[in-house]
Amino acid sequence: MSTVVDTVVNTVRNTLVDAVAPVRQAIRWGVRHGFVRRTLGKRREAGDVTARLVLDADYVADPFPAYATVRAMGRLVDNGVVLNTAHHDLATAILRSPDFGVVGGPSGRAPAFLRLAVAAGGRGPHGPVEPPSMLATDPPDHTRYRKLVARAFSAKAVAGLRSRTEEIATELLDAMAAKGPSADVIEDYASLLPATVIAEMLGAPVEMRRQFLHWGEGAALSLDAGLSFAQFRRSERDLAALQNWMENHLDHLRRNPGDNILSALVHAHADEGKLTEDELINIAMLLLAAGFETTVNLIGNGVGLLTAHPDQLAALRAEPQLWPRAVDEILRYDSPVQRTGRIAQRDTEAAGERFRAGQFVVLLLGGANRDPAVFPDPDRFDVTRANAGDHLAFSSGPHFCLGAALARMEGEVGLRALFDRFPDLALAGPPRRRPTRVLRGYASMPVRLSPATVSS
Ligand code: HEM
Repeated sequence: MSTVVDTVVNTVRNTLVDAVAPVRQAIRWGVRHGFVRRTLGKRREAGDVTARLVLDADYVADPFPAYATVRAMGRLVDNGVVLNTAHHDLATAILRSPDFGVVGGPSGRAPAFLRLAVAAGGRGPHGPVEPPSMLATDPPDHTRYRKLVARAFSAKAVAGLRSRTEEIATELLDAMAAKGPSADVIEDYASLLPATVIAEMLGAPVEMRRQFLHWGEGAALSLDAGLSFAQFRRSERDLAALQNWMENHLDHLRRNPGDNILSALVHAHADEGKLTEDELINIAMLLLAAGFETTVNLIGNGVGLLTAHPDQLAALRAEPQLWPRAVDEILRYDSPVQRTGRIAQRDTEAAGERFRAGQFVVLLLGGANRDPAVFPDPDRFDVTRANAGDHLAFSSGPHFCLGAALARMEGEVGLRALFDRFPDLALAGPPRRRPTRVLRGYASMPVRLSPATVSS
């Protein structure tokens, strides 16, 4: 009898949960994106350039004149919702300051209706900008997470991955040559190279890499502010699918541990108690998605720039030792991550500017990387630029990109191998940009491979 009652109770509960789930999702969207869309929408109508950077599709194609405008307007530009800066020194000071964090300032300051709405919306799937993500956590938790994975991404560890990355590049180029004479360099190469490397590092099945890339598109959307409801639903759906897969995969690794990063994290959770279950899942998802969602843009943006600037490609052919600097110049000139944000944790000062506790500052990394005070003639793409590496493309301070050494190595190996194999590689049609604001890259880039190197 009691099992019948339990079944009925469970069915009723599940039905209710299913019935309210869309409502809760709509509330989550309203709190996180609807409010921003509404407020910035009004500012956009009033001609506010910082609002247009968030909301206007035109600005995805070329945000750089808008950054110059923001920089000319002042060191800090207030759009009524957040402060913005495109100044390199100020962005750097904020990113490095212990008085700024990623977690919403003193939480008691949020209006009661907002706190109520947050509670009513409940929790969606794990995502890169939701705690306990490393990107959304301050010390001391943040320090604990980084310690667990830092060694696997150190310069030494990455040097050990170089020859395997070269092999993967060759395999992908062989496959492209076999298919030739045309290809989509994003779909066939720039996305698959980092997806294969990170899958192997993590102990995730390489044959699932296209599926990971598909889920990664939704994860990438979740970094943006002011999403439409349809975009928000897509991003939650893909994140939920990735989470579901990751939970099963971590269970599998519990029973069959291997010599890989995720097995080490499972051990840190289960045997050493250094991570909660939520933290484990979130870190695992972040490492996987961050491993390819950004580097695809470095390689794709690099192909776009080098095909558009044959003189720069010729300089690299003449002096191949310039490749590491060229990768930094690509990161500076067309940064794969265009913006991030920080919140003042207390009343403070950074680079001569004063901030009140709770103020949110958007750091326009792509704009700071074109700041003429640091980079002379900043709109010139120059692979010999002496200080190209001073960019903020990997951020700065405690959240400095964990995968920076890996990304630089993959960018160099990937671009060099591509242009060595297909020296006359040329665009075969207009490339298409991804719709995302935080991440900047290409969704597709049709190319013609050089005929001499394509198998018949
Ligand atoms: C060109 C490629 C890449 C770029 C431009 C990039 C950029 C960034 C930036 C800007 C941040 C910090 C965001 C902030 O300060 O709020 C970051 C953090 C991070 N990146 Fe990367 N990234 C790249 C590749 C990678 C790769 C290959 C991995 C490998 C898993 C990775 C893993 C991470 C992780 C885990 C964090 C969080 C670090 C923390 O919060 O302490 N990234 N990345």
